[in-house]
Amino acid sequence: MVETINHDVVIIGSGLAGLRAAVEIMRMFEEKVNVGIISKVQLMRSHSVSAEGGTAAVLYPDEGDSIALHAWDTVKGSDFLADQDAVWTLVSHMPQEIYLLEHWGILWSRREDGRIAQRYFGGQTFPRTVYAGDKTGLFEMQTLYGKLQEYDNYERYDEWFVTSYVIEDGEYRGVTAINMKDGNLYLFRSKAVIIATGGGGRVYGFSTYGHTVTGDGLAMAYRAGIPLKDMEFYQFHPTGIIPSGILVTEGARGEGGILLNKNGERFMKKYAPTKMELAPRDIVSRAMFTEMKEGRGFKDEESGLEYLLLDLRHLGEEKLNERLPLVREVAIKFAGVDPAEEPIPVRPVAHYTMGGIHADIRGRVLDAQGRWIKGMWVAGEAAAYSVHGANRLGSNSTAECLVWGKITGREAGLYALKSPSLPPMPSNEKVAGEEKRLFDGLLKRESGKETAYQIKKELNHVMDTHVYVYRNEEGLRKALSKIRELKERFKNVAPSDKSRIYNTDFITVLETENLLDIAEVIVVGALERRESRGSHARTDYPKRDDENWLKHTLATYSRDGPVLSYWPVTITTWKPVERKY
Ligand code: FUM
Repeated sequence: MVETINHDVVIIGSGLAGLRAAVEIMRMFEEKVNVGIISKVQLMRSHSVSAEGGTAAVLYPDEGDSIALHAWDTVKGSDFLADQDAVWTLVSHMPQEIYLLEHWGILWSRREDGRIAQRYFGGQTFPRTVYAGDKTGLFEMQTLYGKLQEYDNYERYDEWFVTSYVIEDGEYRGVTAINMKDGNLYLFRSKAVIIATGGGGRVYGFSTYGHTVTGDGLAMAYRAGIPLKDMEFYQFHPTGIIPSGILVTEGARGEGGILLNKNGERFMKKYAPTKMELAPRDIVSRAMFTEMKEGRGFKDEESGLEYLLLDLRHLGEEKLNERLPLVREVAIKFAGVDPAEEPIPVRPVAHYTMGGIHADIRGRVLDAQGRWIKGMWVAGEAAAYSVHGANRLGSNSTAECLVWGKITGREAGLYALKSPSLPPMPSNEKVAGEEKRLFDGLLKRESGKETAYQIKKELNHVMDTHVYVYRNEEGLRKALSKIRELKERFKNVAPSDKSRIYNTDFITVLETENLLDIAEVIVVGALERRESRGSHARTDYPKRDDENWLKHTLATYSRDGPVLSYWPVTITTWKPVERKY
């Protein structure tokens, strides 16, 4: 019999979006709404702590910035696929979020005149990225965690792995989760749930993500019949350090860093003459791939990876230590290069899931017909209320987490407050069925030749080879057939560790299953989208095609693979035009 745990609101994920939601519920409804925060890791090990360069917000209209400029930069950056009402929501909420964090104790970097400092990120017409050195995510997380300590009405479930969302009659009923400490399955019942589980970056091998980022929240939604939106748009950040893929923040280019090819040329002048290295990420990443393909890159013999150089030497040691201390430390430790003396070897790296769970502007989770799945919200990278469209601008991600953490926290808190009781108990069949699937099926299965580690390695390889910065029909078809082969082989995967307590081998199996599902969705969406837009660059369809493709992709689960449908883009202010930088 599966034990039950009750809360008014359950938040899944304890990164920036999840923590911001928890803080908002506590601030607004402390005594009246009780919260459970479930995380597969210890709270401060959520991947948000790795966010480096900053958070975008308009702080200085007196110096020439404006909310409208931030909105325009974001829409243009998105290659016009962003929903413009969502963009206005993001940019207009952001200034207040920066000041709130300041009041809660964050140490933002400052200017000489004492005001909060801002620097350029790609695609911005004004330097509007607020930062705390180059460890912005860590400081934001610490600040929110500190704020949460002021309240009592919540419970943390660190190192609990959520395995399914229970939805019946089109409404949310609860979630099932394994407590890794005792190895048992529990049912969480709540009036509302906020999914804040982040992206799926470990579908790729060369990736800035921690190894825990396996798209669990997305895959569970997909398997529960909730559509995933725009998953073919995957962001490749221009500067992943060779050979690990660890991020070198865009803030390095914001501070004046330049990119060089093998001939010592500052090649970005050919691709984006006005913005140069501070063009949006899709454009810089494509330029870098083109340079490498045309023979102007270097090759790392050990990893076989091609790369270019990020030169920060002219910034000088003092500035590097003040503004980019982490970049310096990482370059020294992971590439054996001191950026004060030598350029850093970098190449584009998988960095952000622009698609996600289909949601409206309030973060309410929708089905393929646009009906709200009552009781469910989603925030942060897991969500697609379509604020980033086909290409996110740097530093709009932490911003998104803060804004929709707040919005969904408020919405879900209020909903819980108004709901007299928990939703009906889910059918025992569903919950017992999940327990059986996990423990009698997956865990007890005879270990054969296949391992989750090998499947994941092959998946990473095929995604890195065929579904990266440039794609085409042939490569995508190869990727799809490989993923389907891996899905078949996965049926023979079993954890070799059969114990219950802290069975990380078992968790890896579950994570690999999630990665396979979302990889298939990415590739099917990419194959079908016969145009190039933002991060989705098809060599066989090199042009943007607004007539046929100015629409969002929805992928809904079926036994035979994702079924695609399309969803309109909300255009309130700007009609699509050619993007020039
Ligand atoms: O480059 C960076 O610091 C990354 C920021 C972001 O993805 O928003």
